[in-house]
Amino acid sequence: MRKPIIAGNWKMNVLPGQAVELVRRLWADISGYDAVEVVVCPPCVDLPAVSEFMRSGDIRIGLGAQNMHWKESGAFTGEVSPTMLLDLGATHVIIGHSERRQLFGETDQGVNRKVKSALSFGLVPIMCVGETLKQREAGETEGIITGQVNCGLFELGPEEVPTVVVAYEPIWAIGTGKAATAGDAQEVTGMIRSVLSGQFGQQAAESVRIQYGGSVKPDNVSEIMSMPDIDGALVGGASLEADVFARIVKFS
Ligand code: 13P
Repeated sequence: MRKPIIAGNWKMNVLPGQAVELVRRLWADISGYDAVEVVVCPPCVDLPAVSEFMRSGDIRIGLGAQNMHWKESGAFTGEVSPTMLLDLGATHVIIGHSERRQLFGETDQGVNRKVKSALSFGLVPIMCVGETLKQREAGETEGIITGQVNCGLFELGPEEVPTVVVAYEPIWAIGTGKAATAGDAQEVTGMIRSVLSGQFGQQAAESVRIQYGGSVKPDNVSEIMSMPDIDGALVGGASLEADVFARIVKFS
């Protein structure tokens, strides 16, 4: 049984004090509800305050970063290492979000290095894949997604793969208010699972959780979550309001 995982990606929004307040309100709405694993991914500078607040209040929500470097330390100006994230209380890390791929030149090879590094340091990688509208319209979705999954998870052992969370985020659905239909999302997430099966075997593939992301809202989450190969959601805008995100978490 795959436990659903719903994560909020707060992107470059929310100051530390606001992040703590958001977590406080979210927990007030969802404490005692454990059908879903919940993760929030604030900006890196918010992690210490949020982590301390969660620890002192016994708040059981996962804490994710939005990116990391693959090396533990070194001359990498402006970067943050996996051990630094662990020290700040992070449990998860988003890797290869389309905004990082498109705006900051992240490659599949870099994504692969980061996924391997996260696993080796005990962080759960949430690896994002997704096609552009142009690629979808050109019928390239399957090839693009297959390439991103194969490269991103290159050289992982079948025993490591079940820890990875794959987030399918079609770029045309991010921040547009136009989510993929549940059927379209299932088609691609089902395809991702068969790619995983080909790469790592059926048993490993069956235990990987695959999220959908892109304009997830309280009114579309339950249909999306009802799909057989969708085990969670990666939520942007709608995770910035505690009550809205809580409704998404409690979708069923
Ligand atoms: P929206 O939910 O705002 O479309 O963002 C999705 C996303 O990019 C999550 O990582």
